Amino acid sequence: MTGNELRKAYLNFFQQHGHVIVPSASLVPENDPTTLFTGSGMQPMLPYLLGASHPAGKRIADSQRCFRSQDIEEVGDNRHTTFFEMLGNWSLGDYFKEAQLKWLFEFLVDEIGLDPQKLYVTVFKGASNFEIAEDSESVQIWQELFAKKGIDATVITNPEKEGLQNGRIFYYGQAKNWWSRSGDPDQMPPGEPGGPDSEVFYDFGADLKIHPYSQFADQPCHVNCDCGRFLEIANSVFMQYLKTKDGKFIELPQKNVDFGGGLERILAAKNHNPDVFQSDLFWPLVEKIADLSYRSYLANDIDTQSFRIIADHVRAAVMLMADGVIPTNKERGYFVRRLLRRAIRHGRILGIKESFLSLLVPSVATIYETAYPELNQQMSLISNWVIEEEEKFEQTLQRGRKEWAKRVTRGGQNTISAEDAFDMYQTHGTAVETTIAIADEYQLDLELEETRFIAAFEKLKAQHAMQSRKGSAKKFKGGLQDHERQSVKYHTATHLLHAALRKILGAEVQQKGSNITHERLRFDFSFNRALTADEKQAVITLINQWIAQNLPVYRQEMEKEQALQSGAVAFFAERYPDQVTVYTIGDQPDQGWISKEVCGGPHVSRTGEIGMLTIQKEQAVAAGTRRIYLQAKTD
Ligand code: SER
Repeated sequence: MTGNELRKAYLNFFQQHGHVIVPSASLVPENDPTTLFTGSGMQPMLPYLLGASHPAGKRIADSQRCFRSQDIEEVGDNRHTTFFEMLGNWSLGDYFKEAQLKWLFEFLVDEIGLDPQKLYVTVFKGASNFEIAEDSESVQIWQELFAKKGIDATVITNPEKEGLQNGRIFYYGQAKNWWSRSGDPDQMPPGEPGGPDSEVFYDFGADLKIHPYSQFADQPCHVNCDCGRFLEIANSVFMQYLKTKDGKFIELPQKNVDFGGGLERILAAKNHNPDVFQSDLFWPLVEKIADLSYRSYLANDIDTQSFRIIADHVRAAVMLMADGVIPTNKERGYFVRRLLRRAIRHGRILGIKESFLSLLVPSVATIYETAYPELNQQMSLISNWVIEEEEKFEQTLQRGRKEWAKRVTRGGQNTISAEDAFDMYQTHGTAVETTIAIADEYQLDLELEETRFIAAFEKLKAQHAMQSRKGSAKKFKGGLQDHERQSVKYHTATHLLHAALRKILGAEVQQKGSNITHERLRFDFSFNRALTADEKQAVITLINQWIAQNLPVYRQEMEKEQALQSGAVAFFAERYPDQVTVYTIGDQPDQGWISKEVCGGPHVSRTGEIGMLTIQKEQAVAAGTRRIYLQAKTD
């Protein structure tokens, strides 16, 4: 089975069970300043899990593109990737455990044909300190489902100690079988939703028990032990609790299901090959790397690891760039930079001397031709960014080499510590990837193994940042709630800005992207020259007039066609579902409006709540695209 076939089979199956298929949201979360990237299918669904009504109804399914920056260092084994697609289905206060587990089992076993003998499941043991009971209901549902396939499902209550014991259903505690954006119940901040979950694991067979990167090889094997035999392929979260200010849990207004299953992982199970890199979602990349390096993928562990790192990192970087994140030194852009530079380093380890990364971009576009055809249109732009990044990396390498050469000759040192690397970063801006690349070239030793070396470097960097922030900490009053409130204001302000730009510069101006933090809003739009001082003045004056008029903001749900006919602007119209939410700013929803946009919200209810704004700066971001920053007026 191919990745495209699996994605389609899943979406069709859930569509047949009454779900509306929605397109993948961007990897850059909209209106969510708390996180840099979309790292799960559930993130874009948060308002609806908390009770807001979703325009597409109560049953939704999708394949969400995800990026987990915290997994960068994990890549290299047969299963970890930084970018992945998460197949997801949601019940927003509709069906619950019984229907979810039944459909999931039916999909995995009857629809795509996984052998039920190879499936193992886990359930939540309960958390007595939070007065949340064990999930015996799911145990019973699973037992009935397995019984239908002639399997007597034995329950094991303490698998971490007891091991597999011929069990089929395993109880685990909050560290494994609880899901929220921030982790287990102890780690969740007040206001965060979460719930117990039930996972499905696929058994690749006992002979796969010990894989080369396992730290668990000599401990008792159980489904969650990470030895490489079992792969988690599906996670049904019963999202039903909310953490309160006093650290307790209350029931959400509705019981939700948040299901997520990695497309690459289910595919690996379906093809009974534990190496996700051998599936069609990676293989064209692997082949291209083999062509460029004259090496073969499975020749030896070290080379295999480099192949995987390059393939994963290039794919992730291309996907991020397609969503507007370009390599820089800050925030999101820093991750793209790290991905690309790490991929370049591993290219060198494979003996590739010339610049090669941009040659891999077309392979990514080919893999996703059907699912994400827009990648093809962005290919030349993305290739250019990659080429530029390779050049920049080469320049920093040259500078870094000189500095390191001085230090090495001066101190006669041939071991580099994380402190040295941080010092180089502080004084010369040499990134840790550059330092490691130089260490490779000159055969200098890193004081710690690479992953730990980078972790130690990042820790020093974070400590330093914390110290320099302490002085300015007083500026942060209010905390998260205030930040969220400010972001909502800026979100409504982007609609006013979009309307004002179209009024002053012409209706050909189109939104290309936006990004909001609690400190400012950033807005990209199509326009092929800099704005004049007069134009900028006119735009901000108009926006502030609308704010001063304290216009009402209306929310309506309607058919997509109707929305477009009513003149609503839709950024990426083809990606929206059939039912959409439209926000209108003006006297009345149907007359005298100044802005009408298809948008998920949230927004303020009157423009006066936004407060006066100023333009911070306006600049070019790419050919034909401008970027403008607005912020609250302080004086
Ligand atoms: N939110 C859950 C996860 O990310 C299921 O979608 O695993």
